[in-house]
Amino acid sequence: MLKKLEKLEKEALELIKKSHLADDLEKIRIKYLGRKGELSQLAKKLPALSALDKRRVGQALNKTLNTIENKIKKQTIKLVSNNNESELDQDEPALAINNFGHLHLITQAIEEISLIFEKIGFNRVRYPEVDWDWFAFEALNMPKDHPARDEWETLFIDLPKDSKMGKAVLTPHTSNGQVREMLRKNSQTPIRMINIGKCYRRQQDVTHTAMFHQFEGLVIDKHVNIQHLKGTLDHFAKKYYGPSAKSRIRPFMFKFTEPSFEVDFSCTHCAGAGCRFCKSGWHEVGGAGMVHPNVLKAGGIDPDKYTGFAFGWGVERVFTLKPGLELDDIRPFYGSNLEFLSNF
Ligand code: PHE
Repeated sequence: MLKKLEKLEKEALELIKKSHLADDLEKIRIKYLGRKGELSQLAKKLPALSALDKRRVGQALNKTLNTIENKIKKQTIKLVSNNNESELDQDEPALAINNFGHLHLITQAIEEISLIFEKIGFNRVRYPEVDWDWFAFEALNMPKDHPARDEWETLFIDLPKDSKMGKAVLTPHTSNGQVREMLRKNSQTPIRMINIGKCYRRQQDVTHTAMFHQFEGLVIDKHVNIQHLKGTLDHFAKKYYGPSAKSRIRPFMFKFTEPSFEVDFSCTHCAGAGCRFCKSGWHEVGGAGMVHPNVLKAGGIDPDKYTGFAFGWGVERVFTLKPGLELDDIRPFYGSNLEFLSNF
């Protein structure tokens, strides 16, 4: 019987050594150590033995049992730590879905901004990223060579000039969508546009990238006035930054609006008290104003009957001002550091 036991042990250890699957190890365990396994069969014969043999064989049985059991354990650990590819554990939980990526932070911001305006009746549109000088400047009351154009640090496309439309440009702002929208609507009112798109300027520093996004609001109808503009700005501030956020307008100058304003939002970090981040309690975000009569005319709308307001600012800019973000460098938005990007 001892011989038989020795043979079984040797055989089992050989099989264990050759196993590369947890399933195989389990089969071996059942074959040798299971309730009806080889060792149990031998143990059944114990009662027939003399007292002395009973002890000797009993002890040997226990020893073999432990040896096989330990060997199976060790081999299991080895399989797991080798991360053997043939090892497919069907009970392993699936990878969390967010390990596969998500929408880029600016895409998320665009979605959020669109929704805020769509809920109050604005219509989301997009216009070409390569557009004519006429839509980007001339129709916006900025004749050729007007010095105001310098502010837009425009990148031109190397294409033949069109006699009416002028040069082709990379859109330096989403205001090119204003007259495009009036023409798309056949100069019919009301117009409630929210135009979000890519813009390009010859600029690059911590708060400016050569490619960035703007969104442009345009409302044209009878009796539209500055209060509607101010109400819309306040509405956006509260929806995007929280109920205590405020907006403020200050006199400014754009050729395509009259009067024109710069728009500020209260600082979300200090609630307008003034802090390291904002200094004055306010952040300047963009421009706004009442649509200039010449711009309405360019879109075929009678400025004696209709008025409108427009506003526009950078998506990246408003995003960095979100509570708790304290981002003072927008360049990583367009880098490939996933550790940074996956935070959003
Ligand atoms: N287009 C302007 C800019 O890029 C912002 C603006 C939009 C101003 C609409 C007034 C009205 O700075």
